[in-house]
Amino acid sequence: MPKRNILITGGAGFIGSHVVRLFVNKYPDYRIVNLDKLTYAGNLANLKDIEEKPNYSFVKADIADLDEMRRIIRDNHIDGIIHLAAESHVDRSIKDPFTFARTNVMGTLALLQAAKEYWEETPEGFEGKLFYHISTDEVYGALELTDPEGIASPFTTTASSAEHHLAFGSEFFLETTRYNPHSPYSASKASSDHFVRAYYDTYGMPTLVTNCSNNYGPYQFPEKLIPLFINNIRHGKPLPVYGKGENVRDWLFVEDHARAIDTIFHHGKPAETYNIGGFNEWKNIDLIKVVIKTVDRLLGNPEGYSDKLITYVTDRPGHDMRYAIDSRKLQKELGWEPSLQFEEGIEKTVRWYLDNQPWLDNITSGDYRQYYESMYGKR
Ligand code: NAD
Ligand code: DAU
Repeated sequence: MPKRNILITGGAGFIGSHVVRLFVNKYPDYRIVNLDKLTYAGNLANLKDIEEKPNYSFVKADIADLDEMRRIIRDNHIDGIIHLAAESHVDRSIKDPFTFARTNVMGTLALLQAAKEYWEETPEGFEGKLFYHISTDEVYGALELTDPEGIASPFTTTASSAEHHLAFGSEFFLETTRYNPHSPYSASKASSDHFVRAYYDTYGMPTLVTNCSNNYGPYQFPEKLIPLFINNIRHGKPLPVYGKGENVRDWLFVEDHARAIDTIFHHGKPAETYNIGGFNEWKNIDLIKVVIKTVDRLLGNPEGYSDKLITYVTDRPGHDMRYAIDSRKLQKELGWEPSLQFEEGIEKTVRWYLDNQPWLDNITSGDYRQYYESMYGKR
């Protein structure tokens, strides 16, 4: 395996920490530089188990600071970038869109420009370099709920196979689906995706983009549905279900996303786009019932004990109805497959949060609660 110097941005966040861990452990000859601003979402405790490894280093920096990006990329002789740093929470983007434009759009642009300048100066130019941008399925907009009469819909079953889901003839996001973002978050991610592709088209810089569905698993900040609800059930607090709970999301275990990123970083073709997802759609309310059941069982509560915590609240403005990723291109061309069935993944996830209560307690600060109370009322 050739030696490489890889910059991973956003490595102190949820998905980034899994990617950093995978690369540091799997590739001892690579130097992994984790660059993170440590916003509210960044937490170096996510990487405690690998922080002493000789091939790992951390640098605190803001991706929107162009001079800093130039310096860090040059000083570390970076030849590959896996870019995850972003503002990632839709509800926050509704409240504060400018922060999303600054980090997700201007930050991505600064990183692209700094990489381009440095790579053009190296003797081999763009040869052997890659800028890999991690994006989301939300850029494609929203799909309709297709629930053909008389047939169980794909999202009311637990079978997560492509054949099963495609058999229902419902629509999926393809790599060629037209961008149609609705939230300030997805608009900022769409814009950053366009910049990444523009650097390939205009300057010939090797870039690629992947668009992934909802991730779940350990180390996710407890503002997102699954960790928030596990924590609230643990503390007997209300579970705020937006609208009627009928929105559908397509869930992928975070370590499977990290493995896909590894495969694509090493074998993906520059200029390509790959969708990543596990054909695992769930209506929010059905997923919430599975989470409640699992937490109650693991806490030794009688079945149905925490159902009373379900509280329907005002819907998220512009709430996308359904996301569903068709990831057959990645499966066929690069041989990636999700490793876990959802039932296994959710069990593993709930156990992790229950076993790591101090990790949760450290981040659920007063500020965090006040923020939500100002937006959706007391929880
Ligand atoms: P996260 O919010 O948990 O982590 C984001 C990280 O980026 C944090 O460590 C934060 O400190 C860092 N960061 C934020 N602004 C920064 C800046 N200006 N400079 C440097 N670092 C900064 O996010 P996540 O859920 O791990 O998502 C990671 C990436 O994957 C994002 O680009 C997101 O759009 C994308 N994505 C997420 C999901 C998901 O379900 N979570 C799905 C598909 C794609
Ligand atoms: O699809 C990929 C995206 O998934 C990523 O790009 C985003 O970074 C990530 O945050 C996630 O976005 P969602 O908005 O889908 O995730 P969230 O966990 O915020 O919400 C999941 C669903 O649950 C959504 O339909 C809104 C609903 N919800 C969420 C929260 C936090 C509730 O009903 N109540 C809640 O309290």
